[in-house]
Amino acid sequence: MVEANFKTMLFGGDYNPEQWPEEIWLEDMQILKQAAINSATINVFSWALLQPSENEYDFTMLDKIVAILEKNHYQIILATATAALPGWMARRYPDVNRTDFNGQVHKFGVRHNACPNSPTFRKYSPLLANKLAARYGQSKNLVCWHISNEYEGECFCENCAKAFRVWVKAKYQTIEVVNDAWNMNFWGHTLYDWEDIVPPNCLADGFGTDRGVFPGLSIDYKRFMSDSLLQNYRDEKAAIRQFDSKTPITTNMMGTYKGLDYFKWAKELDIISWDNYPDLSTPVSLTAMTHDLMRGLKNGQPFMLMEQTPSQQNAQMYSWLKKPGQMRSLSYQAVAHGADTVQFFQLRRSKGATEKFHGAVIDHSGTTNTRVFRETAQLGHELAALGNTLMGARHHSKVALVFDWENYWALEYSIGPTFLLKYVEQIHQYYAAFYRQNISVDLIPLDADFSKYDLVVAPVLYMVKEGVDEAIRRYVKQGGTFVTTFMSGMVNQSDNIHLGGYPGPLRDILGIWVEEMDALPPEERYPIEFSDQTIAECRMLCSIVHLEGAQVKASYGAGKFYEKTPVVTTHQFGRGQAVYVGSMLVESALDHLVTEWAEMFALEKYDTPKDIEITTRYQENQAYVFVINHTPEVVKVALPFEETLDLLTNEVVLKEIELKPFGVKILQK
Ligand code: GLA
Ligand code: ZN
Repeated sequence: MVEANFKTMLFGGDYNPEQWPEEIWLEDMQILKQAAINSATINVFSWALLQPSENEYDFTMLDKIVAILEKNHYQIILATATAALPGWMARRYPDVNRTDFNGQVHKFGVRHNACPNSPTFRKYSPLLANKLAARYGQSKNLVCWHISNEYEGECFCENCAKAFRVWVKAKYQTIEVVNDAWNMNFWGHTLYDWEDIVPPNCLADGFGTDRGVFPGLSIDYKRFMSDSLLQNYRDEKAAIRQFDSKTPITTNMMGTYKGLDYFKWAKELDIISWDNYPDLSTPVSLTAMTHDLMRGLKNGQPFMLMEQTPSQQNAQMYSWLKKPGQMRSLSYQAVAHGADTVQFFQLRRSKGATEKFHGAVIDHSGTTNTRVFRETAQLGHELAALGNTLMGARHHSKVALVFDWENYWALEYSIGPTFLLKYVEQIHQYYAAFYRQNISVDLIPLDADFSKYDLVVAPVLYMVKEGVDEAIRRYVKQGGTFVTTFMSGMVNQSDNIHLGGYPGPLRDILGIWVEEMDALPPEERYPIEFSDQTIAECRMLCSIVHLEGAQVKASYGAGKFYEKTPVVTTHQFGRGQAVYVGSMLVESALDHLVTEWAEMFALEKYDTPKDIEITTRYQENQAYVFVINHTPEVVKVALPFEETLDLLTNEVVLKEIELKPFGVKILQK
C-alpha cells in the first residue's frame, strides 16, 4: 500500500479539455484559479484518442494537457482512460463487448462497457495503463492515479461463462458439492458436468434483474462478477506499479452501489474515493451514512470526495438545483464525515452529448459571473484558508453498524417472505436513529474487530457464514452488546436455511427461537408496547418469538393471533447482551432504543432540530465540531460548550449559535 499523503486539500474535479479548442484551455486556467481550484482529474474517457488504432498510440494531446496544468500549478489526478472502449476495438474484437442480463450482445456504445473476462480487454487495458505510467508516472504534479471510472454492471457472455466455471470449480472442487450448495435437486436442476453451469441471466435462472430461482447460484455470480471487475482493476494497478511505485492509486466508487463488494475492493485501493450524487429525496442522514460507509472501507481512513455536482445532476428525473449555500453545506458534510478532498464533476460544462445539462464550475456562459461560480470560489477560498488543519483527522465512535455486501445480495435475491425488504433501507433506518441524536457511528464489515465498540448493530443479518456467529459469540461473551433484527441468522453462504429453527447459529446468543414470520402489506402498522409502557408501532415483517433465556423488552399489541408475544428481546450472554428486534420498528420506537443505549454507554450526543447535524473529527486530541444546517431556514442551536472558535470565520462562538440557511460552522474545541 502507498500512503496517500496529499499536501493540501484537493479542490478540483473532472476536466475534459479534449472536448474543447486550446483557446478555451487558456481561459480555463485563469478562471479556475479565481475559485482557488488546485487540481484536475483528467483523461477519464480518452482511450480512443490515445490509441487511434490497434498498433498506434498518440499522446500528443495528453502531453499538452499535462503541460498546461503543470505550468499553471494544478495538481493532477490521472485516469487510465479505460472506462470506455474505442470504436475500432469494439468492432474488430467483439469479445470486448458485454452481453447483458437479457442476453443481448452489445455493440460499440455508451461507457463502462467492457466485458471483464474479455482476453482483448485484459490485454489492452493494462497495456494502456502501463504506457501512461511510463510517460507520466514521474510528472511532478501527479498526485493520484484514477483507474477506469465507476466500475459497474455485469456481463453474461460466453467468456464470462467459461471464467465462471473455473471460479466455481476452484471454490467447490466437485460438481456434487455445487449441487448441494445451490440446492440443484430443486426443480430437477441437478448438474452433471461443469458445462451445465450457465450464468443466471433471464435466459437461464435469473428472475427479473434482482431475483433468482437459485439464489445460491446468483449470489456466486455476483461474487464472481465483483471479483472479475476487481481483477481488471488489479491488472491496471500492476501495470502502473511497474513505472510508478509512489503515487496512490484509486478508483471512484458509488457509495452503496450493489454490484461490487467494496470491502473486498478496498484492500486494493490506496485511498478510497467516491462520487456523491444525492437525489432531491435523499435524506441527509443517508448521505451521511454513505460517507461513513466509504470511511469504513479502510477502517476509518479519510477518503476523497471524487465527484459531486456544483449545481445539478442531469441524469436524475428532475435536475434540481442545489439551493444557494447547499453545495457548500454538502461539501462540508463530506469533510465532516472524513473527506480530505472536495472535487466536482465537472469543471467545464460540456457543449454537447448526454451531459450538456449537467452542472459544472464553469457554465455554458463561460464566465465567472454565475451564482455557482461564486459559491465554488467562496468554498475554494475557505478550504485554502483551512489548509491542512482537518486533513487526516479521525472519528471516535463507540457504535458500529455492520454493512455486508453478501447480505445485501442474498437478502434481495430472496423470494419471500416479503418483496418489500431492501437492504440499504434496513441499515439506514438504524443509522438515521443514531443520526437524529448526532451520535457518531462507524460502518464496519462483518470481519471487523468488534471489540473496539460498546455496541454493534447488524440489522437483517440474513446470511451468517461460517465463523461469523463465533465472532459475535466471543464479542458478547466478553461484554459487548450486539443487536440484530428479524430475518437474521437465516441462511449459510449459499442461501440454504440453517435448519433446526431460526435464527440458526445466533439462537443461543440471542436466547430465542423464531417460529414463524408474518409479512404485512406496506401500509399496515401494528402496535407494540415496551416494558416501560412506551407505545409504538412496527411494520413489514413480524417474527413470532419464543424465549429461550432472553427477557422481553417489547411485545406486540392487541389485534393478531400473536398479540402479547415478544417483539424485542434482550439476552444476558456471558458478560454482554444480545438484543433481537423482531420487526421493522417505526422511528419513535428506534429513538426509544437509541436513547436507552446512549444512556447505557454514555454516548456523546447532541439534541438538535431536524436536519441540523453535528459531527466531530479529531486531530490527536483536538476536536473539530462541524455544525451543519441542512435546511433552507435560519436555525438556532444550543451547544453544550463554553466559548469555541469557528474556524471558518475566526470568531468566538458562544453557547447558542445561529445558523444561516445551509450555514456551517467548524468549531475548534
Ligand atoms: C458519474 C461519472 C461521471 C459523470 C457523472 C455525472 O459520477 O463518473 O463521468 O457521468 O456521473 O453525474
Ligand atoms: Zn463477458
